[in-house]
Order: sequence, then C-alpha cells, then structure tokens
Amino acid sequence: MSFTPQFLDEIRARVGLADRVARKVKLTRKGREFSGLCPFHNEKTPSFTVNEDKGFFHCFGCGAHGDVIGFVMRTENLSFPETVERLAEDAGIEMPKTSPEERQRAEAAVSLYAVCEAAAAFFEKELRGPRGQGARDYLKGRGLDEETIARFRLGYAPDSRSALKTALMGGGITESLLVTAGLLIQPEDERASYDRFRGRVIFPIFDRRGRPIAFGGRIMGEGEPKYLNSPETPLFQKGHNLYGWSHALKSARETGLLCLTEGYMDVIALLRAGFPAMAPLGTALTEAQIEALWRVVPEPVLCFDGDAAGQRAAARAAERALPLLRPGNSLRFVELPKSDDPDSLIKARGRAGMDSVLAQAKPMSQVIWDMETRGKPVDTPERRALVEKNLMARARSIADRGVQEHYVGEFRARLREAFADYSPVTGARRRSAPFGRAAANRPLASDPLIGSEEGRAEARERVMVACVLNHPDLLAELADEFAAIEIDNHEYDSLRQAILDVASQHAAESNMVLGAGELSAALAERGFARTVEALSGNAQRVLDWFARAEAARADALIGFRQVLALHRRFGNLRTSLAESEELLATDMTEEQWERFRALKLAADAPEHTVAEIDEFGMASGRKSGG
Ligand code: UTP
Ligand code: MN
Repeated sequence: MSFTPQFLDEIRARVGLADRVARKVKLTRKGREFSGLCPFHNEKTPSFTVNEDKGFFHCFGCGAHGDVIGFVMRTENLSFPETVERLAEDAGIEMPKTSPEERQRAEAAVSLYAVCEAAAAFFEKELRGPRGQGARDYLKGRGLDEETIARFRLGYAPDSRSALKTALMGGGITESLLVTAGLLIQPEDERASYDRFRGRVIFPIFDRRGRPIAFGGRIMGEGEPKYLNSPETPLFQKGHNLYGWSHALKSARETGLLCLTEGYMDVIALLRAGFPAMAPLGTALTEAQIEALWRVVPEPVLCFDGDAAGQRAAARAAERALPLLRPGNSLRFVELPKSDDPDSLIKARGRAGMDSVLAQAKPMSQVIWDMETRGKPVDTPERRALVEKNLMARARSIADRGVQEHYVGEFRARLREAFADYSPVTGARRRSAPFGRAAANRPLASDPLIGSEEGRAEARERVMVACVLNHPDLLAELADEFAAIEIDNHEYDSLRQAILDVASQHAAESNMVLGAGELSAALAERGFARTVEALSGNAQRVLDWFARAEAARADALIGFRQVLALHRRFGNLRTSLAESEELLATDMTEEQWERFRALKLAADAPEHTVAEIDEFGMASGRKSGG
C-alpha cells in the first residue's frame, strides 16, 4: 500500500514525537529539545536528542536519525505500512482508501455507518421504552447495571416484523441500505422485507473506532439460535472483527493483558471486572485476528469456555497460531472449570477467581505438547518415535526459524525426560518408585497402563484409588467394591483403608456428601499428605483422565468399574498363570506348555489395557459421539 505525503504528514502532525519516544526512552527536557539514552546503541551518557518542532530524533553517538514513523518502525520492529497503520489507529486517523473500488466502498460505507448508528440508537431507545420492560428485566437478571448497559450500548429489538423498518426508513435511509446493513431480511420471493432482529436483546458490535457496524441479538430465555448475528456486510467481516476492541484497546496496551473469550457476555463481564477482553464471536480465531491482537499485546490469553466445545476451539486456535509465532509473540491458554465461562466464573468467584485462573495460563508450547502426547501410547520404540515425529512436525510448522529451533529444543528435552523410563539404564529403577519424582513428573497421561503386567497392575491400583480420592461421592455406589479390591502396593492399600475410615466416620457424623477437599484434608491429618498430593492436584496428569477431579462423575464411575473389571480379570489370570507355571515345572508336557502359553499371551495382550464402553467420556466432553 502506498500513502500520500499529505496522509503521512497528518500522522506526523497528530502523533507527538516526544510522547511516542518517551514510551521507550526516559527523556529530559533541554530548552526546545529533549535528550536521553539512545535506544539504538549502548551508552552511559545521553547523546540521543528529540526535536519536537522539527519532528525528528537524532543520536550524536551512533548517527541514528528519523521521524516518528522511523522511530516506531525501529523500536517496535514493524514494517513501514504496519507502522503507519498503528500510528493512524492510535491517533484516530482513518486509513486512506487507495484503489477506486476501495474508495467507492468507503463512500457507500459512510451511509452504512449512519444506518448502523441509527439502528443502535433505535435499539437503545426501545430498551428504555415501554416495550423494553422484559429486556430490562432480563439484563438486570444477568447482573448488568445501567452504567454497563450504556457503556456497551445494549438495546432491545421489539418483537415485530417492521418496528425497525418503519422507524428508520426515510430521511436518506433506504430499504436497500437497511438490507445491505443486515438489518432487514429480503425474502427471495416478492414478499416484503422484514426486521432481522425481533424480540431480542441487542449487543451492538463496534469497529476499531467504536462505531456500531453489526449486531448480535440474544433470545431472552431458551430457544434457537441463542444469538442471532448480523450477516457479513461491507462494514462487518467476521474474521477481521473482534468484539470489545474499542472498549479494551487502551487498557490492554497499558496492562499488557488481553483475554480472548468466546462470547459477548464474557467480554462485558471481564471488562467490568477490570480485565481487558475481546471475543472473536462464535467463529474460529483467524490469522488476521491473531496478527491484529499481537499488535496490541505480545501474548493474548485465550479464556474459552471450559466445556468440550470451548476446549476444541482453543485447540484450533493453537493450531492456527502455531505457524505464525514470532520471537516474543505467542498465545497463552487458561483452562476454566468445565461448566464455566469467564462470565460465570467472575460471577461465582469474582476478580480473584479470574486472577487465579490467569495465573495458571499455559504457554503455547505446553498446549501443543499436551495435544500430541496426552493419551498417546509410548510403550514401544515405534510408538515413541511416532510421538516424537508428530511433535517435531508441529515444531517445524513454525515459520520463524528462531522460534522453531526453540520449540524443537524444548520438545527434545521434554521427550528425553518423558521417555527416560524406557531407557535401559534408568528404566527399571524409576518404574519401581511410583511416588518418586520421576513418576510424579511423568507427562504422558497414558503410560500408567503401559509396561510390564506388574506395572500395569500397580497403575490400575493407583488409578482406582485416585479416582475415589478425587470423587469421594462415588463411594455411595462403590464402597463395597472399593473395599474388596486386591491391592498389592502397600502405599495404595493403606490409603484405601484410610479413605474408607474417613468416609465411614464422616457418614456417622454428618449427612452431607463427603467432598474431595474435605477428604484430602482428613487424609493429610492421618499422615497421607504426600500420597494424596501425588494423586491429586498437578500430579493428576499421571492419571487416566477419568480419575481426575475434572472428569464428570458419570465417567469416573464407568472408568472405575472398567479398570476394576480389568484388574479382576488379570488377578484371576495371574493366579492361573502362576499355577500353570508351577505345574509346568513338574509336568513338562505339550498340553501344559500350550496352556501356559495361552495364559501368558492373554496376560500380555494389549487389548486388555483398554476397554471401550459406548458413550464413555461423553459426560466429560471427551467424545462427540457414541
Ligand atoms: P455461548 O453459547 O458460550 O454463549 O457462545 P455465552 O456468551 O456464554 O452466552 P450467554 O452467557 O448464555 O448469554 C459464545 C458465543 O458464540 C456466539 C456468540 O458470540 C456467543 O457470545 N454464538 C453462540 C452465536 O453467535 N450464536 C449462537 O447461537 C450461540
Ligand atoms: Mn459461554
């Protein structure tokens, strides 16, 4: 894109050079000039000067010289057009339209802006009028006060096919403009056009300069679709817009924090609570949006809904952003509790709740690692090689060579650690120490079910005990089965006994359901703090997912029973195998040998490590279909 000299002059005039430089360099005034330490070379005494009147900076030390555009280009590492765009945006100057089509579109847009503004004002007025009572109650019920309603210009579309049409048409606003703006729907046949938004609470969507360009309408109560949105229009391209941009930009720049959420209400709730936030509005995050966000903060934090759909959307965003990563620019990811979105989290736990999930945001590299390793078997060299290959392919998809190298390096280091169990030197020692550091740090979620049969038996014991530890309410159904499990490992066996003791004592004293936190605390008092810690909290990643605290109860129950069934089957198998081995020692016949071989094969068969049950996982959002 080329810019006219007039346009560039306007930018130079509207953006204060000294102000801009002062963001990066501590300046002191000397008459008509400012001076400071040069940002372009290392120095102890200031030889860098800024002349506001002439509009340039100059360094007497290294010879660096330029105007505000040159300064921002060099200090923020942007291209010329990017810099111009950034400065224009900050100064509120509209970017020039260069091609004739663009100019034409800009002219048409002027009237579309006016139409959208008129519509926004109409919806606002309706919300305050007699027809808006229900919508006012709805918003109040969702905890939104007057100030917030005004700030986000929330409104109401009356339940009528022609309220907006009649109110807005005339005075230059034509039916065809209203159709183009997405406010009226024109049926294919001859029938009359009618209001798109009817009987809905309206959330105007603003462009970067805060002008309404589109609308989302929420149904008040149940029904489909929950949100009805404007179609794409000449003003509104979904993949380029972010809800909340104009509201959040300033605070995002100031704080360096920017939360990316899924929904309108999340943005509003976060901004109210003081967290800069924006949302891509029900569509997958696009490259254009990611690039735009990086011009605001280096690492936007994805705070998508905790449900399965939200987590899938987050994974897609990670995949989309990965090739684009640059030194310093990335995404971070928070995992919200399964039934929460930022709006509900803040409602339930306030600022502090949000602060604490933000504090645990995961870096991109961790998310990609999890994606490629969670639940992946690594018990054979081929399987380990596959995991490694997939991770390296991810890393190599990063276009920036520097970032790519660091990903390769990090993944290699993590793989070395993760596969250490399989190294001939350290493997045996590590595997026999289930609560040692190595075990607690093992990042591959599926490896408890892999390895020798003893190892697997112990892993099953661990998973079952952990499952009850994290879901003590299962004891209502499982107490007898749980008490009867054959557990070889002493540590798990005594923990199981302690859990049963605590549970029965609790049942005697209270008619509340025993909570996981309460159980852990009681166990810690009995000296099990370390064991409990190894099976809950962060260490949970060594567990099968259904045993973790965040799994749905239904899945925890099924998972437990499944593993118990395997455990019993293997218990029997092991007894038979031991008997057969003994017999074989004294009675080495063909028949005994065949029997022994069959039992041995069964015991080693990999299908015994996983059993599938229809719909297992659905309640936890682990599966999309049966
Ligand atoms: P959610 O279903 O999570 O909505 O969709 P929400 O924001 O939590 O809504 P409330 O709190 O129930 O009011 C997230 C976002 O996806 C888009 C909207 O932008 C919504 O905010 N969406 C969702 C739609 O566009 N249409 C829909 O039917 C549903
Ligand atoms: Mn939501």
